[in-house]
Amino acid sequence: MPHHKRIISGIQATGRIHLGNYLGAIRNWLSPTHNIHECFFFIADLHALTVDTDPTTLQFNARFLLATYIACGIDPHKHVLFQQSHVAEHTELYWLLGCHTPLGWLNRMTQFKDKAGKNKEVANLGLYAYPVLMAADILLYRADAVPVGDDQKQHLELTRDIAQSINHHYDAPVFTVPEPLIVAQGARIMSLRDGTKKMSKSDPSELSRILLNDTDEAIAVKIRKAKSDAFPFPGTIVEAQERPEAFNLGQIYSALTNQSLAHVCALWAGKEFSVIKKELIDSCCATIGPIREKIALLMENRDYLDDILRKNAHRAKEIAHVTLASYKHCLGLGI
Ligand code: TYM
Repeated sequence: MPHHKRIISGIQATGRIHLGNYLGAIRNWLSPTHNIHECFFFIADLHALTVDTDPTTLQFNARFLLATYIACGIDPHKHVLFQQSHVAEHTELYWLLGCHTPLGWLNRMTQFKDKAGKNKEVANLGLYAYPVLMAADILLYRADAVPVGDDQKQHLELTRDIAQSINHHYDAPVFTVPEPLIVAQGARIMSLRDGTKKMSKSDPSELSRILLNDTDEAIAVKIRKAKSDAFPFPGTIVEAQERPEAFNLGQIYSALTNQSLAHVCALWAGKEFSVIKKELIDSCCATIGPIREKIALLMENRDYLDDILRKNAHRAKEIAHVTLASYKHCLGLGI
């Protein structure tokens, strides 16, 4: 088993958290197999600025994200939960890393191509440089491992390339080279409206994603309306792979109920979608119900949430400051 000492991860503070974020990331953050000693989980509010957002919404989203982390079982007294913009070292290291990152590496990033689409000329520099800020988030804490969904794999590879290249340049272990931690089941949850598209906060259709604060009624409607096909459920993974919507519903159920996808296929083989959707609704409501209630309670206690952020900004800063100072020293920027 790999020996992971410190892990870090974050979620962009845009929109509400969906089932993909939960199954692909948050639930994986505290897996007992990670052999974790220290965890840093943050609210990526600076990354949220790459999307047009107003200050009140951003502030609300940041607190809502913190409430969501806690409601999902992340203990704020055991782990460092903080807000990215409260630790200025992130933006400073971002600039320093940017001066070491070839444009060719950034040009390969598929997320920028997807998000900017045909409007590259009007996309902001922040969106383009987004993975460099992400590298700074990780390298500042000398994290050994980063639990993320499948879509962040490429950004993690870039982070590793940057760290290795700097270490090589100075012939010293300036940064720890982090490992990605990606779950076997649920690392890529797809849209309920299109099994070939990732479930995403930015999809214009509300029906495409289940939110962690959806009511039982909303969950039921979304799953009932989820796209399916005209055949009974496939009996094997190989057959399911040919049918994106069946595969997606199967993998959501498998992740929610902690059973392998092969087992779910055997269980559901030959059943109609109307039947399996009922089972999926039940398991989804059972997982989300308690989280939703806890989020609502926590959101009523703003002082409690703000207090956590204030204390933890201080703890995060202590570590970030040391890493940044040592890299600045390498660069000849120290005093
Ligand atoms: P974000 O906010 O897009 O997503 C947060 C986490 O959720 C995972 N995820 C999914 N997993 C499974 N299925 C899906 N459909 C799905 N959609 C999203 C993402 O992989 C991610 O783990 N860049 C990051 C935020 C970030 C970060 C970091 C993460 C900023 N700095 C440093 C780790 C370390 C992001 O966009 O997350």
